[in-house]
Amino acid sequence: MTDPGELSRAHEAVGGNCSACHTAFKGQEPAKCIACHANESMLLARQPTAFHASIDRCGGCHMEHQGRNVRPTEMSHLALAAALARDGISLGATLHGKPEAELEQSLDCNRCHANQDPHREQFGTGCADCHTTARWQVEGYRHPSPESRDCAQCHVAPPSHYMMHFEMVSEKTVGLEHVEVRSCYLCHETTAWNDIRGVGWYKHH
Ligand code: HEC
Ligand code: HEC
Ligand code: HEC
Ligand code: HEC
Ligand code: HEC
Ligand code: HEC
Ligand code: HEC
Repeated sequence: MTDPGELSRAHEAVGGNCSACHTAFKGQEPAKCIACHANESMLLARQPTAFHASIDRCGGCHMEHQGRNVRPTEMSHLALAAALARDGISLGATLHGKPEAELEQSLDCNRCHANQDPHREQFGTGCADCHTTARWQVEGYRHPSPESRDCAQCHVAPPSHYMMHFEMVSEKTVGLEHVEVRSCYLCHETTAWNDIRGVGWYKHH
């Protein structure tokens, strides 16, 4: 056989045994990967990668023979959408004839990324309305000025702000009394929630 290149560090031990991953005349088969990787409990427990329980294609996201220092993983939402579509797993949309970008955008982002939602569901669960899969940054987006008074339109206060903690700690820290919670701008900078207006960085004890 031709030498296709060095295996990844993780598979070095398997290396000599080509048939662990390859079947003569068929090439590389996902079933062979699954034979060794069926019991990845951490992988299945973590929300974004839990889909491994139901997928039976490994290509597109896992490559091999790229050298021992290359991690053999690169997430591809397109490979994911294509695999789910091929296997008839519902994405909540019809996929036939859709261009690639649309196919990706039809994924239910919230199913895998809800735990990363920094908006605390204030913007709903339709992440794809605003986000694409390449990066979470939104092109052309500028945060409202620190002079804005509309903070509560987009941000939800933590539960502690609706308990005694608000009067006992939050208000006292800023030196104010009887403030409405929704007046975030009286107490918060836009830099970070721990950057308290007129006080500086608030350290939790
Ligand atoms: C003979 C058993 C075996 C086979 C077959 C096998 N693997 Fe692995 N794989 C391992 C072992 C052992 C490790 C390293 C220990 C670990 O992380 O679990 C590993 C690690 C990995 C990693 C983590 C690599 C890293 O650096 O983070 C991925 C991804 C992976 N395998 C995917 C695959 C895919 C895809 C296939 C099929 C093309 C495959 N494996 C076939 C045994 C196997
Ligand atoms: C749609 C892309 C995609 C497909 C298809 C896919 N994986 Fe993965 N896989 C990932 C991602 C992303 C990770 C997480 C890597 C990380 O943590 O950096 C991962 C992680 C893994 C790991 C754990 C690696 C580690 O770091 O310990 C193994 C093992 C693995 N995949 C095996 C498989 C096998 C076997 C298949 C085919 C049955 C498969 N994957 C199909 C994207 C995919
Ligand atoms: C850990 C699993 C694994 C082992 C072990 C492994 N390969 Fe591969 N090999 C793959 C995967 C996966 C591909 C598909 C390439 C890709 O998608 O990056 C591949 C691709 C190839 C290709 C390119 C043609 C094709 O089928 O796509 C050749 C040739 C090849 N391997 C030969 C070998 C030989 C020879 C050995 C033993 C020295 C070996 N492989 C061991 C996983 C493995
Ligand atoms: C079936 C699960 C799944 C679905 C559905 C899904 N993703 Fe992902 N996404 C992942 C995984 C896995 C990663 C790799 C990072 C990780 O392991 O946490 C990832 C990474 C990302 C990243 C980070 C990219 C980077 O390199 O920084 C963005 C942005 C993203 N996804 C957006 C989306 C959007 C938008 C949607 C809906 C259109 C979506 N995802 C649908 C599983 C999913
Ligand atoms: C109404 C539009 C909108 C919706 C819907 C939305 N987001 Fe965002 N999201 C944004 C904007 C705007 C940013 C800021 C982007 C920037 O700084 O470039 C952002 C930032 C993010 C970031 C990056 C935060 C950081 O500080 O790096 C993540 C992660 C994220 N959103 C996840 C989600 C998830 C998950 C969902 C769905 C549950 C979602 N978003 C729904 C508009 C939205
Ligand atoms: C039009 C919607 C909108 C308004 C109005 C708004 N923000 Fe934001 N803010 C966002 C988005 C989107 C992000 C980035 C994603 C995220 O963290 O939710 C963000 C991020 C932040 C962050 C960074 C959070 C972090 O952990 O990185 C702080 C702090 C913040 N805003 C404070 C404020 C304050 C204070 C006001 C009022 C002066 C305000 N925002 C007004 C939408 C808004
Ligand atoms: C009276 C001043 C005040 C108002 C009004 C206020 N906060 Fe705070 N907030 C604080 C202070 C002080 C802290 C840090 C200490 C603490 O937990 O009380 C804090 C902490 C936070 C944190 C970090 C909590 C954590 O668990 O790390 C978030 C997020 C936050 N506020 C969001 C908001 C939002 C959103 C609003 C408006 C809807 C708001 N706050 C209104 C004073 C205020």
